[in-house]
Amino acid sequence: MMFGFGAMIEKLKKDPKRIVLTEGTDPRILEAASRLLASSFLTPVLLGNKDKVWAAAEEAGYNIRGAEIIDPEDYDKFEEMVEEFCEIRKSKGMTPEQARKILVQANYFGTMLVKMGVVDCLIGGATYSTADTVRPALQIIKTKPGNSIVSSCFILVRPSATGENEVLAMADCAINIKPTDEELVEICEETVGCAKVFGIDPKVAFLSYSTLGSGKGEDVDKMRSAAAKAKAKMPDVPIAGELQFDAAVSPRVARTKCPGSEVAGYANTFIFPDINSGNLGYKIAQRMGNFEAYGPILLGLNAQINDLSRGCNAIEVYSMAIITASLS
Ligand SMILES: CC(C)(COP(=O)(O)OP(=O)(O)OC[C@H]1O[C@@H](n2cnc3c(N)ncnc32)[C@H](O)[C@@H]1OP(=O)(O)O)[C@@H](O)C(=O)NCCC(=O)NCCS
Repeated sequence: MMFGFGAMIEKLKKDPKRIVLTEGTDPRILEAASRLLASSFLTPVLLGNKDKVWAAAEEAGYNIRGAEIIDPEDYDKFEEMVEEFCEIRKSKGMTPEQARKILVQANYFGTMLVKMGVVDCLIGGATYSTADTVRPALQIIKTKPGNSIVSSCFILVRPSATGENEVLAMADCAINIKPTDEELVEICEETVGCAKVFGIDPKVAFLSYSTLGSGKGEDVDKMRSAAAKAKAKMPDVPIAGELQFDAAVSPRVARTKCPGSEVAGYANTFIFPDINSGNLGYKIAQRMGNFEAYGPILLGLNAQINDLSRGCNAIEVYSMAIITASLS
């Protein structure tokens, strides 16, 4: 299966987008911005003090000629933004004075640019934590109608010599710490939708330390219940659970532990019981299984906002910019 960057770029060429990059002086961001500026399908908007952004680009040796740079401390629509933010956070008693202090921070300012329609989407987090990127999105962009939570998934890609890349989806490895069975059903629905965008034909495993009742415990019950509810909600999607990871991916183990399942042995979309298992699981695949990891891709928000890992490189920033824009 081919991982569809080419298809995403073609989609953006027909409908170009604007993406805000909140950390305008970071060399990795500047390198990705210079690559995007050289293309015509995605316009980067950098945040920061203009002189500092230009100086950082010059020092790092990246050409950002023609880049749009917005300085939160010198923005002509700042008061309009303050007013809109106070309205959004009215129930929290937000005052204009508090709002001005919050909105000069690039993560909040950039998220408000998305909310006000100045840009289509955002990536940030090359220098700050997931929580600091995600919190403004939760507060300002909010959960889309019909959903009860924002969650996330990772897309994992293992290049192969034959060109048939292996592509998997894993969730929720980054946001919800201990989701309930109902929340896991929502995470599954959103992840199935995202997996399809990446060319995956989803076969979903709800993971556990137990396979169909072989082990006992609260989390086993939770995963079995979530799998049953997800199957009832999405009858057209192959879903199984609860499954151990070996039963989910090894046809030989599946034949012994759960014969007859259309998912077991062939799962490509994995729903983890909690953030501990999910976060560890995707990192094991990435660091020891030679998979490239794209994400966390936030699911269930009213606009596309995505978080970068603090260990990211410029290629990953460029890739996440394309993924974020093409999902928006
Ligand atoms: C996502 C996360 C940052 C939210 O934490 P927080 O900001 O402390 O959460 P709070 O409970 O204060 O909620 C802040 C707002 O977000 C909302 N919110 C929190 N979690 C949410 C979710 N999963 N979906 C939708 N909204 C959510 C709250 O309702 C609240 O809204 P309000 O301010 O309008 O009332 C938290 O769940 C977290 O830290 N997750 C783990 C992140 C992480 O470390 N990942 C590993 C590295 S990738």
